[in-house]
Amino acid sequence: MILETQTLLPQLDGLKAAAALLAEGALVSFPTETVYGLGADARNGTAVAGIYEAKGRPSFNPLIIHLASAEEARSYVNWSDTADILARAFWPGPLTLVLPLKEGHGLSSLVTAGLDTVALRVPAHPTAQALLTAFGGPVAAPSANPSGKISATRAEHVRAGLEGRIAAILDDGPCAVGVESTILGLNGPNPILLRAGGLPKEAIEAALGHPVSQQNGPEIIAPGQLASHYAPAASVRLEAAVSRGNEVMLGFGETDGVLNLSPSGDLVEAAANLFDFLHKLDGMQQPIAVARIPDLGLGRAINDRLRRAAAPR
Ligand code: TXA
Ligand code: MG
Repeated sequence: MILETQTLLPQLDGLKAAAALLAEGALVSFPTETVYGLGADARNGTAVAGIYEAKGRPSFNPLIIHLASAEEARSYVNWSDTADILARAFWPGPLTLVLPLKEGHGLSSLVTAGLDTVALRVPAHPTAQALLTAFGGPVAAPSANPSGKISATRAEHVRAGLEGRIAAILDDGPCAVGVESTILGLNGPNPILLRAGGLPKEAIEAALGHPVSQQNGPEIIAPGQLASHYAPAASVRLEAAVSRGNEVMLGFGETDGVLNLSPSGDLVEAAANLFDFLHKLDGMQQPIAVARIPDLGLGRAINDRLRRAAAPR
């Protein structure tokens, strides 16, 4: 489906229109102080699946949730003293904190890629702030560029990459920082720098009063790229036509099962259901058989995830 991508301006009308589109489950690109984000309602699995589809992402990496305030951020996670120090020092700003999800958080499982942690950030850009306040909810937003392309720091970059694939671009000129936010993991015993970004590590260390260790390796190791990232306890068999023995079947389209990712064969719906359904079937403590998913569009990201789930371990 080709959309007519509107340009919205950061005044009251444009902000209201952008917030209304998000509430409808549409995708809206908006400026932050780091880069332009591609936003969707983080509680709406179908909207979040649309992000992966629009970007053409071949895998489901967990996304950053954008919130208007630290207070709002706290409602989704088990907050800590360290988080408090950092939020007071650097929010709003180019720092993302990874924290353990609170029960009843209400976020789509696609946004966290099935993890029990979530990445949160309160952006400083006044237009991002105004949009988040107008929308009044959590907005999932990766950088607004097609997968594998460089991040967008101007509305024109967003249009060049995503025109026709998203509902609107909230245009407020160039981004000041120009690189993504710094990501800090606060879900272990010590804070770990997961991605270098707009906030220098030294500033974080000065606020905490101690050095912060960095995740090893030259590349950012996104949890979505690790084979062990989310694997059901049960064994997983792919491209099954029917279940065998005591397997529980995860269906797709006409290949039905105990649960069906999308009876109509819609890959966006299937992506939105993927992690929830894997968790549900895993809870049944029986081997899982999964119907064949077409390897095109979002199907590539779904199959990437399923192959990891099925990998020997
Ligand atoms: O500056 C930014 O952070 C931009 C703007 C739009 O805010 N956003 C951005 O989002 O860069 P994205 O989705 O491209 O970056 C997400 C990164 C990935 O590297 C992912 O692995 C990491 O955040 N991440 C998300 N959730 C995580 C989690 N639960 N644990 C560890 N890393 C996580
Ligand atoms: Mg990116």
